[in-house]
Amino acid sequence: MARKKIALIGSGMIGGTLAHLAAKKEMGDIVLFDIAEGMPQGKALDLSQCGPIEGFDANISGTNDYADIAGADVVIVTAGVPRKPGMSRDDLLGINLSVMKSVGEGIKNNCPDAFVICITNPLDAMVWALREFSGLPHNKVVGMAGVLDSARFATFLAWEFGVSVKDVNAFVLGGHGDTMVPVTSYTTISGIPVNDLAKIKGIDASRIDEIVQRTRSGGGEIVGLLKTGSAYYAPATSAIAMAEAYLGDQKRILPCAAYVDGKYGLDGLYVGVPAVIGANGIEDVVEIELSDEEKSNLKVSTDAVEELLEACKGLDNSLA
Ligand code: APR
Repeated sequence: MARKKIALIGSGMIGGTLAHLAAKKEMGDIVLFDIAEGMPQGKALDLSQCGPIEGFDANISGTNDYADIAGADVVIVTAGVPRKPGMSRDDLLGINLSVMKSVGEGIKNNCPDAFVICITNPLDAMVWALREFSGLPHNKVVGMAGVLDSARFATFLAWEFGVSVKDVNAFVLGGHGDTMVPVTSYTTISGIPVNDLAKIKGIDASRIDEIVQRTRSGGGEIVGLLKTGSAYYAPATSAIAMAEAYLGDQKRILPCAAYVDGKYGLDGLYVGVPAVIGANGIEDVVEIELSDEEKSNLKVSTDAVEELLEACKGLDNSLA
């Protein structure tokens, strides 16, 4: 059986990390694409030379030509610019929207059957725009945010409770921005609701609130420390988990920016929800019951996403 083909559009910090992870896991052959000349080719060569040491078989190539992504099974998009300190994800809207246009056309013309995972920010608007520009079915285009946000939430909770991260199942809904909704009522530690375990362990509810807040600004915290860009290890790891769920038809329920039309009272919007990923892409969106407070927090978050979509339509007439 021929190996799967994974195309990475954008070969910067996240793109390079994605390529390394995908190669190590032998997920398939990898094509690194970028507009910067020489850079994807150089990274591909460097990463190929990890093969003999790590013992993986994968052809890794770099390109500036969309023709080379032809027939890709999975496309992961990180093309665009990342945040600098003081910037919000929304500040990237104008520049990254035009990038999504060229990426969407490249995908449409070369690998219209691929499963496409978008990472470029502002995520919920960019994944929507990428879907519009590419014309792919909604179930084949998804955004990576919830896996990362939930991993951040889980990390902070594991530290606070002094437990293994393996036992924390954390849950974040909504847009990938400051209004995201970490949902404590669905967050468990070894099956024990986090708020119950906090009571047992004598951890004050205000500490959980602080962790929720730290999760919301988890990306910004890293931008502030790095100063020259944004997080890349955990974002890449998150997208790889989603790609594996698709390639392995795993039917995992992962929080992702999926297209929601009807559920959660939403009318055709990409936003973070629990979604089933299998061989047909996004196979289902799970509508969980929320408290009134969670519902109103989700509304604030989805309103913010809707505002960004309006801004996109104002910037590019073809989206209106
Ligand atoms: N087509 C293809 N690649 C492009 C294009 C384009 N039109 N425009 C920019 N790029 C490339 C850049 O040349 C760069 O190599 O996208 C790459 C982005 O890499 P980095 O600047 O290292 O950014 P990274 O940290 O990988 O983040 C990428 O993901 O998390 C988000 O906010 C982040 O939107 C940003 C994206």
